[in-house]
Amino acid sequence: MSHSIAEALSQYPRETLTRRPTPLDYLPHLSKELDIEIYLKRDDLTDLALGGDKPRKLEYEIAQARANGADYLVTCGSAQSNHARLTTAAARHLGMNCAVVLSRDDFLAFQGNLLTVYLMGARVEFAETEDHWDLEEHALNLCQKLTEEGHTPHYIPISGTTPHSCLGYVSCGLELADQIEETGLEFDAIYTPFGTGGIFTAWLLTLRAREIMSPLIGISVNRELKPCEENFEKWWSALCELLDRDPAAERGVFEIHDDFIGREYGDPTEAGLDAIMLMAQSEGILLDPVYSGKVLAGLVAHQRAGRWIKGQRILMLHSGGTPALFAYHEAIRAHLEKRGVIIEV
Ligand SMILES: Cc1ncc(COP(=O)(O)O)c(C=O)c1O
Repeated sequence: MSHSIAEALSQYPRETLTRRPTPLDYLPHLSKELDIEIYLKRDDLTDLALGGDKPRKLEYEIAQARANGADYLVTCGSAQSNHARLTTAAARHLGMNCAVVLSRDDFLAFQGNLLTVYLMGARVEFAETEDHWDLEEHALNLCQKLTEEGHTPHYIPISGTTPHSCLGYVSCGLELADQIEETGLEFDAIYTPFGTGGIFTAWLLTLRAREIMSPLIGISVNRELKPCEENFEKWWSALCELLDRDPAAERGVFEIHDDFIGREYGDPTEAGLDAIMLMAQSEGILLDPVYSGKVLAGLVAHQRAGRWIKGQRILMLHSGGTPALFAYHEAIRAHLEKRGVIIEV
C-alpha cells in the first residue's frame, strides 16, 4: 500500500466528459456579508449540458459500461433529476442511447431538467413511488426490456453513485488538494452536499490521503443521519478496496447534518431559499433548492450560531443542479414576494 492515491486511480479507464480543473473562487461579497472568508469550488461549471457533479462521476462509470459493450445507459431519479439530464447528455456526447425512469413527484413539470431530458431524446418512463430511491426495480425491468429488444443496457443507480463513479470525486479531491497546496490556503471547514454520500466519502478519503485535515461537513439532502452513516461506510469500504487503501486509515474530523432537509428530499425550505437569495444577490451565482441551497443554508446556520467567526476560512462545493430552479418557480416567486420583492408579471 505504498503507492499514492493518484497512481492507484490511474489504473482505471476514464471517458472524457469535462475539462478540468474547475475554479476555486473567493467570494468577496458573501464573505463580507457573513464576516468569514468563503471560497467556492465551482463544479457547477463542468462542461456537460449545464454542468454539475455528474460528468466527473460518469467518466469512470461509462468507461466500465463501454468495456462491457453497452450501447444504452439506463438510470432513474426524481422528475427533476440532474442525473437524468447529465446521463442523457453523456450518452449523446459519446454516441450512445439513454433511457430514464422518473418518479411522478411534486416537481413533475415540463421545465428545468425534465425539459432537457426530453430535448436530448432520452426514452422516458414514469413510475409511481413514495420515494424516488425505490425506482431501481422499474429501471431493472426497463433494462430487461431493452435486452429483449437487442440492446446492451448498462444500469447506473440513482444519483449515479457506484464504487467506480466515486472515483470521479477522488479525482476531484486530488484536483482540490492541488489547488489548496498551490494557493497555500488552509480551510477551517469544507462543506459538501450529502445525497448518496458518494462525493462526501470520496473527498474525505482523498483529502486525508493528501494530509489535508480540514473538518469535512456534509449536509444531508435526503436521509437521516443513520442511513447516511451507513452509506458513508459502504462507499468508504468500496473505495478503499478499489484504491487498495487501508480502511482503517485516518479519517480526521467529519460531520453529517440531517437538519436542513425540510419535509422531504427536494422540499424548498425557507432557509434554503434564503440561502439561494443570499448567494444570488451578493455574488450573482445561482444555487439550487435541492442541493447547493441547502448546503449554504447549513453553513449560514452554523455561522449564525457562532461556530464560524471573523478570520476563519470556509470552502463550499457547488455541485450544480441549477436547472431545477426553473421547476421551482412558484415557490421561488412566493418566497421573493414574502421577502418584499415586487414582481410585476
Ligand atoms: C447537484 C447535485 N449535487 C449533489 C448530489 C449528491 O451527490 P452524492 O449522491 O454523491 O452525495 C447530486 C446527486 O444527485 C446532485 O445532483
